Amino acid sequence: MPEISDREFDRLLDELKQIEAKHPELIAPDSPTQRVGGQPIDGFATFTHRVPMLSIDNTYSANELRDFDRGVRKVLGGESVDYVVELKIDGVAMSLTYEKGLLTVGATRGDGERGDDVTHNVKTINEVPIRLRTDKPPTLFEARGEIYMTRAELVRINRERTASAEKPYENPRNLTAGTLKLLDPRLCAKRKLALFAYASGAIDGLKIMKHTDLLEMLKRLGFPVNPFTQACANIEDVVAFCDSWAEKRHDLPYETDGMVIKVNDFAQRERLGYTSKFPRWARAYKFAAEQAVTKLGDVEFSVGKFGELTPVALFDPPVRLGGTTVSRASMHNASMVEKLDAHYGDMVVVEKAGEIIPQVVSVVKESRTGTERKIIFPKKCPVCGAPVEREESATSYNYVCSDVGRCPAQLTKRVLSFAKRDHMDIEGLGDELGKQLVDSGLVKSVADLYRLNEKQLLGLERMGKKSAQNLRSGIEGSKQRGLARLLAGLSIYMVGESMAELLAAEFSSLNEVATASQEQLAKIKGFGPKRAESVHEFFHSLDGEKLVAEFRELGLKLTQDKKAAPAGLSDNILAGKTFVVTGTLSRYSREEIEGFIKQLGGKPVGSISKKTDFLIAGEKAGSKLDKAKELGVKVIDEEEFDKMIGKA
Ligand code: IVH
Repeated sequence: MPEISDREFDRLLDELKQIEAKHPELIAPDSPTQRVGGQPIDGFATFTHRVPMLSIDNTYSANELRDFDRGVRKVLGGESVDYVVELKIDGVAMSLTYEKGLLTVGATRGDGERGDDVTHNVKTINEVPIRLRTDKPPTLFEARGEIYMTRAELVRINRERTASAEKPYENPRNLTAGTLKLLDPRLCAKRKLALFAYASGAIDGLKIMKHTDLLEMLKRLGFPVNPFTQACANIEDVVAFCDSWAEKRHDLPYETDGMVIKVNDFAQRERLGYTSKFPRWARAYKFAAEQAVTKLGDVEFSVGKFGELTPVALFDPPVRLGGTTVSRASMHNASMVEKLDAHYGDMVVVEKAGEIIPQVVSVVKESRTGTERKIIFPKKCPVCGAPVEREESATSYNYVCSDVGRCPAQLTKRVLSFAKRDHMDIEGLGDELGKQLVDSGLVKSVADLYRLNEKQLLGLERMGKKSAQNLRSGIEGSKQRGLARLLAGLSIYMVGESMAELLAAEFSSLNEVATASQEQLAKIKGFGPKRAESVHEFFHSLDGEKLVAEFRELGLKLTQDKKAAPAGLSDNILAGKTFVVTGTLSRYSREEIEGFIKQLGGKPVGSISKKTDFLIAGEKAGSKLDKAKELGVKVIDEEEFDKMIGKA
């Protein structure tokens, strides 16, 4: 409870401001007037963390927590271990540095080594002490914690936004992150952010022995510490405490996405140490994915860059899941629809865990009334009307629009893929414009982009002189991107960014790639006969041949500077390691990643056993993920794989 009313506070603050205006020499660095927000800054300085800000490995079940405990006790030679369990606050991690007791830097986690200096904004947060509450401050004290926003504050801000016809923010975490990144601290001061401190970073002039002592000290120094923190003498107490919050957490005024379990004793922590990414003395326990049931009202068939018809379920009504409103979810392909046995009008279970894309996971068959209708794929492309053909792959089937050359939906998707950041990086060429360029007939192939003149661009909707000029120079600039990015942008079936890099490393020019024989292509490490056939076919098609000639004529750079050859991967870094890949990956196709593993000396295998070193799990990973957890096989995602092989 505040000790004085808001009004009284404002009155005193005004008085103080007047005094300080007359006697600026009296302004103390921790004066409350220093919080209200100073001048905007130009950009963020980078802050190098004195001690890396690591994240924590996740667990998803009681048994995984028990495994964690077993591992901990094994390293500690059977000693008894106390844990502290805390709520995992869903906000933004923050490092707060105090020198001689005064707040000097507030910085985000960034990549863990370096974050953004957001001191100007952090100072506006009332719960962040500007001065430590002690007469004898340590030389250096770094507190760490979570900056968050309550649900009520999000609602308040959104009410204002909708009143002025602005789009509401989706969830408190994203808004917290966005608010901390504002350049003008006066804007940050208008949104109420809050803090829970839960860890320390670099400390000089103090010795702390236990996490429980640290939490007490943080409270004494003036930091808010979450009250729902529990010391547990054994893992069963930990499990029980975690379970007790699975439902209760929804009643809290702020969002949480799990629990954090920490070894209490700092000396034991030191003996447990760290993996390359995580402390071995802590685990996050994630609550089960949130689910909701709603009606599958309709299905939209979107046409992809290879003509594939992707069935997208439209929900009626949309549902709230994990802090966002979900109105649609991809069902990927025809075999998925068949496997789900989804019908129009079915009640379906939609799931979303954390940031992950929403999925239709099952149909509630018991809710059927008999009026549900089978989902039938169109016989004709919904965009161009060309006949649709069935296409089989080893594991699934789908329907594709047969007019590969001309279907405007396919062409638009290919133009957008060509222009996207990781490919030719043409700034300003977004969805809307891509569609206009194709629909107006100005662009019939990606080469046409380089023939657009300002006058033509000015004829498009919402295109001013300045934007037209910028787009022109963006297109012109993209000519220099080089072979790897050009190849990646061409929408060659089975060739994504990493395969394009392999091609650009193997051949010295686009011409060489285009004239390579299928056998030559198949010999590239990580390629295989199917991909070789696809590349060969592309460059021997009329469209492919024409493109190569046009690119040459238009002056695109068709070679590769050496440095961009496969991102400095050394040959045998995965030697002796076995990998299983499961789920849907976003950065690689299955073949690509397996190709990489082989290329780097590792061994991709089909099924999990105790001997497997890593499971690379994509979205919708199923039984293999369960099995890996059961057997204690290390599970990584694509990002971790990329880091492991030193690929940025
Ligand atoms: S401890 C090395 N405690 O969860 C351990 N983290 O992946 C340092 N978080 O980046 C973090 N509540 O942003 C810790 N009670 C809590 C937490 C917490 C939320 C966040 C934090 C961290 C992420 C872990």
